[in-house]
Amino acid sequence: MSVSSLKGGVGKTTVALGLASAAFARGLRTLVVDLDPQCDASTGLGAIGEFRETVADVLQNPKHNIVHRAIVSSTWGKVQSGHIDVMIGSPRALKFDTPNPTIRDVWKLEEALSRIEKDYDLVIIDTPPSINGLTRTAWVASDRVLIVSEPSIFSVVAADRAMRAIEELRKGLTPRLEALGVVINRFRPQSKEHAYRANELQEMFKEDLMTVQIEERATIQQAQGAARPIHTWPGDHAAELAKIFDDILSYTMASFQQPTDKRRLKMDKKMSRISKIMRGQNLDAVLELESLQEEPLGLKEIAELELPTGPVRPIDPKFLSPIEQLEALASLELKEIKPDENQA
Ligand SMILES: Nc1ncnc2c1ncn2[C@@H]1O[C@H](COP(=O)(O)OP(=O)(O)OP(=O)(O)O)[C@@H](O)[C@H]1O
Ligand SMILES: [Mg+2]
Repeated sequence: MSVSSLKGGVGKTTVALGLASAAFARGLRTLVVDLDPQCDASTGLGAIGEFRETVADVLQNPKHNIVHRAIVSSTWGKVQSGHIDVMIGSPRALKFDTPNPTIRDVWKLEEALSRIEKDYDLVIIDTPPSINGLTRTAWVASDRVLIVSEPSIFSVVAADRAMRAIEELRKGLTPRLEALGVVINRFRPQSKEHAYRANELQEMFKEDLMTVQIEERATIQQAQGAARPIHTWPGDHAAELAKIFDDILSYTMASFQQPTDKRRLKMDKKMSRISKIMRGQNLDAVLELESLQEEPLGLKEIAELELPTGPVRPIDPKFLSPIEQLEALASLELKEIKPDENQA
């Protein structure tokens, strides 16, 4: 799962760490991927210092050895027994946060995680506060996205944008992606403004708004400062927060248990073929193609699609939706495919 918001400082890392703490306390084998170049999640998990390999190397080349070397044990494991690791964040990951990532790039983390996901029960990805390459890379590697919002006007707008962006990516590229919903962070029950914004979020997101809210508590900052999980921090406030994160985790785990829609799975396979063919193409261009529902591409335009490999045989695109056209492209024989260096 990814924890995201298109706005900075609303509590993505706090929620990612809170959920990691809940998963750790529950005995789940957990990996936190720190995709934010600010590396706050790594810090909160006690992974501080010089590391030879980080998530930036993984995004460069998601080879088995590199992926393994970029993952270390969190110091949380010293406080309490359990299994919690972190894929180390790096300022060098900034290089991948371009506004126009290619499909090849946004697929890298998924490729990396496919090598290790059997070792974990839950992978939590902390993302930067934008919809650039890194967040999209995180979403393509995720089944679920949790959106964090503060009860303030700009956060409400950003949450709405995030939900739309997830839907766009789901339709155009990765059908298994689902928004888990929106959770309100830094809630102050006494604040009229907060009550008003919470109400607004409720009207906007309906059942997609989590019924639990995370309150503003200094305890959170103390636990983060000490690089300790909130579940082991003393005091009533810490216990209350731990319970909230337990609830959000239960909700998340339950959403993974929902019966898989066979049609969706089939679509998923097709889409991943399409994505491979489209690798190297600009992601926005592909998503735009999907959004042109009313105007199917002409034969000539299809033939002119800049595919990275092989010849394109003409097909009759009449009456085909853009997605069907992409599927047709996926079923073409592309004989001159060069083996992908990273998959070899
Ligand atoms: N519920 C809360 N109560 C008190 N402090 C909080 C709470 N949530 C977050 N904070 C504090 O607010 C600051 C920003 O939170 P956090 O780093 O989690 O946000 P973020 O969305 O990850 O930020 P960025 O966009 O920079 O990655 C941190 O200092 C954090 O400790
Ligand atoms: Mg953060």
